[in-house]
Amino acid sequence: MCGIVGYLGSKQAYPILIKGLQRLEYRGYDSAGVALLNGKLNIYKKAGKVAELIGYAADKNIEGTLGIGHTRWATHGEPNDKNAHPHFSNSQNLAIIHNGIIENYASIKEELKSRGYIFHSDTDTEVLINLIEDIQKNENVDEEEAIRLALNEVVGAYAIVIISKNNPDKLFAARKGSPLVLGIGDKEFFIASDATPIVEHTKNVVYLNDEEIAVLNRNGEFSIKTIGNKHTTPYIEELELKLEALEKGGYDHFMLKEIYEQPTSILDSMRGRLNTKTGTIALGGLLEYKQKIKNANRLTIAACGTSWHAGIVGEYLLEDLARLPVEVEYASEFRYRNPIITADDILFAISQSGETADTLAAIEQAKSKGATVFGVCNVVGSSIARATHAGSFTHAGPEIGVASTKAFTAQVTVLTLIALYLAKERGTIQESRYQQIINELENIPAKVKKVLDANEKIKYIADIFKDATNFLYLGRGYNFPVALEGALKLKEISYIHAEGYPAAEMKHGPIALIDEEMPVVVLATNQSAYDKIISNIQEVKARKGRIIAIVEEGDTIIKDLAEFVIEIPATEEPLTPLLSVVPLQLLAYHIAVMRGCNVDQPRNLAKSVTVE
Ligand code: G6P
Repeated sequence: MCGIVGYLGSKQAYPILIKGLQRLEYRGYDSAGVALLNGKLNIYKKAGKVAELIGYAADKNIEGTLGIGHTRWATHGEPNDKNAHPHFSNSQNLAIIHNGIIENYASIKEELKSRGYIFHSDTDTEVLINLIEDIQKNENVDEEEAIRLALNEVVGAYAIVIISKNNPDKLFAARKGSPLVLGIGDKEFFIASDATPIVEHTKNVVYLNDEEIAVLNRNGEFSIKTIGNKHTTPYIEELELKLEALEKGGYDHFMLKEIYEQPTSILDSMRGRLNTKTGTIALGGLLEYKQKIKNANRLTIAACGTSWHAGIVGEYLLEDLARLPVEVEYASEFRYRNPIITADDILFAISQSGETADTLAAIEQAKSKGATVFGVCNVVGSSIARATHAGSFTHAGPEIGVASTKAFTAQVTVLTLIALYLAKERGTIQESRYQQIINELENIPAKVKKVLDANEKIKYIADIFKDATNFLYLGRGYNFPVALEGALKLKEISYIHAEGYPAAEMKHGPIALIDEEMPVVVLATNQSAYDKIISNIQEVKARKGRIIAIVEEGDTIIKDLAEFVIEIPATEEPLTPLLSVVPLQLLAYHIAVMRGCNVDQPRNLAKSVTVE
């Protein structure tokens, strides 16, 4: 959601900004723009993709060694040219780009209007830059102080970058609740909402903290202070991100690349943690809170989207193996529901990006009541990783496709390790069963590879069903959250309406939808509920629904019942989601490609949702 990029140095800013915006496209956006300073302060912005901005700017003055660029995901005002960022202040001396939402913008806007300010857009951002200009004029202060005073007046979340016509050697930036990374080169600076536009220029970065303002100087010096006017010492760290991870590497789409990366990413999420020979699981992040988590009366998991589905798999694993009661919450509901949280509580926050505003807010709420918060995050240095007391990274590598795939299997892998670790600590699992499952965990990457071999068959099935208008996904037990995830994948990228349901619950509603047009994807691998799932298949068949079944290799019974079967290798039941989700990811992918959809950047969606 919304991407920020900025440059100050001796090179031409425009190509750096455009490349940076292209790197940020994956976050999801609907307009793009740049501001460049070269004596004049020029702003070029356009609704649509970065490619449209490039076309628009082609015959314009794009000179300048100081500039900012933005991809906007509309919140206040529709996605058109005038609402795109950057925004000028009324004097056109200042230009701003902004991620986040200024919640009290309406009252500030009224006040500024009454003093003669004119607004050219519907955005909260234009209000902020004029507030800064107003303060600068009235208080007779420099830009940095005006920004600081203005940020003390606003309520909400922001990552902002500002350039000033009167200060051609400085770039100003500040954050609260929305991330900003500062890249430090040789007498040049890069700034971005995540490290992806920075990594090809420098590995030295500073993650700004909430309520910090950075001032970057062309001479290579920079300073950071809080909005409370205290200087802070920046912590410079080295990026681990590799440039190859941000390229498609021969695949048509990032999503396909990421689906195919899963044998490796699952292995990476277990690396150094699982030792089948000694029968041990090492999770450094858990150590400090081991006793508290081990003895907890209950755990709460808060997450959104695909991470919420991983959370349900986590619930099943923790209850089944570690005998721990678990509640899984949509972070957005949890935070506004006046939940009962005490200092004894443990909150697990799951997030790929580590920036999801609702998850972050749930964490803050739990922390304010004294609870211990454990993060399961993919992005190192992200806001959630930094806001939690402890955690385990999922190590899936950068996920660029908006529809989450390898992040899900990595989250489930880490949750499996946590459940097994706690099961052993709590003495709720037999040694032989524990050993069986961890041995099988080691086989999972190879088995995922085998599932990927079914790609051509899945493509064939996709072709048959690509014009369907509805899909139903059914699963029981460990496969129930997978049914939810399969349906989510399909609707996210192909825009086909799809619902995931517990298979037995079908008869309480969705069965009314079934006719000869309706594809029903049945996850039919559950060893423990196999007979029951066969009954569910019969119920669909009796109403002429078209069944695509995910079955275990060698299954003959369902082969006779279903119109299509996709085989996956047999595994230990708690590990089933790691395999059964893969054909559903491929099915959604191929259907979306065949329907001509933008797979990596589906309409209206954002990769990291930094607004509530
Ligand atoms: C967005 C993304 C989803 C993701 C969800 C939660 O909606 O499009 O793919 O599952 O946010 O994101 P998180 O980064 O917290 O896992």
